[in-house]
Amino acid sequence: MQTLIQAEQTREDFLPFALPSIGEEEIAEVVDTLRSGWVTTGPKVKRFEADFAAYTAASHALGVNSCTAGLHTALAGLGIGPGDEVILPTFTFCATANVVVHLGATPVLVDIGSDFQIDPVAVEESITSHTRAIMPVHYAGQACDLDAIYEIATQHKLAVIEDAAHAVGTTYHGKQIGSDLLASGYPRLRRATAFSFYANKNITTGEGGMITTADDQLACKMRVLSLHGMSKDAWKRYADSGSWFYEVVSAGYKNNMTDIAAALGIHQLRRLDGFIGTRQQFARMYDEAFAGLDTLKTPLMHADRNHAYHLYAICLNLQELTIDRAEFINQLKERNIGASVHFIPVHLHPFYRDHLGYRRGDLPRAEAIYESILSLPLYPSMSTKDVNDVIVAVHHICSANRR
Ligand SMILES: Cc1ncc(COP(=O)(O)O)c(C=O)c1O
Repeated sequence: MQTLIQAEQTREDFLPFALPSIGEEEIAEVVDTLRSGWVTTGPKVKRFEADFAAYTAASHALGVNSCTAGLHTALAGLGIGPGDEVILPTFTFCATANVVVHLGATPVLVDIGSDFQIDPVAVEESITSHTRAIMPVHYAGQACDLDAIYEIATQHKLAVIEDAAHAVGTTYHGKQIGSDLLASGYPRLRRATAFSFYANKNITTGEGGMITTADDQLACKMRVLSLHGMSKDAWKRYADSGSWFYEVVSAGYKNNMTDIAAALGIHQLRRLDGFIGTRQQFARMYDEAFAGLDTLKTPLMHADRNHAYHLYAICLNLQELTIDRAEFINQLKERNIGASVHFIPVHLHPFYRDHLGYRRGDLPRAEAIYESILSLPLYPSMSTKDVNDVIVAVHHICSANRR
């Protein structure tokens, strides 16, 4: 590593922060779909749902057009609406909170721990007589403290909607996120998990998502809600065995997944374990290369969980540096390396400040982490040279800007 670090040379080409890995099988399956005459929700969505349910060990998997749509459908399926409060971490993408607002309910934002995950103590302290659900986020591809969340939810009769946008392929106590098995010790718990297949996620369908649940009644309700509240989907109406008749049983949404997206998903899912293996290998390279630096902290690992490394987020030790996080990212960019920030805490966004009355200082741990955090490039199509270029650049920026 030392020789590499001494021999810094700016990359000639820009290393993007994230890129999808689309193979020939995905392309062939999409072409097959386009030629089949059936491009919207149909047989390929059914296949992808069955494969996903088997992969996660879930009773039900429902394809949707984004994780946002999945979270929205799950909340609606649980009957969350005006007057209800839903507890979620402030350290998340705005979608987690926005869907609560869409349903006329109130997001109650809570702080995180040093592992960047929702703090169960803060969750318990925020429960009121209006609380109906908890939406934990499995930040970066490592699970939050699920047992603590399930325990609190069971005690207070709350539903749990897990935001697993980052956590396709993540395990907790050896079980897949979204699996029925995770909550087998909590038989009364109502629960659903929503995944994202957005372009930069562990697997992608361009835009897309999946909801899993063990709850037969909820699954049925979500399926109807995800397609206009119609009693039958188009595949059941237009396929040769179908009938034209349907009834609208609720004012549902247009949240369904297309067969074009599912064609990608079927093959991406088969490659998921390989993708995660590569992400973990690159994360280990970062961990080892940054272990000796007092100018930054590498992600905290829990021994009882794997890390699917959707993100590799480091925290700068700003006391040891003469530059702030924004300048650190600028200096990476000058070296042709992309980076990003996950996340601007939800409560600092103008909408949540102006409409829900949040202020800077309300959730201090997330605010402090936000000031110093950045995500480095980490994806399966990177080469080890790309990973080394990032390592060398980070070392040089740290030593050039040491206090
Ligand atoms: C934590 C989190 N939740 C939800 C979403 C929304 O996912 P999608 O783009 O699939 O709707 C994202 C997207 O990045 C996310 O990071």
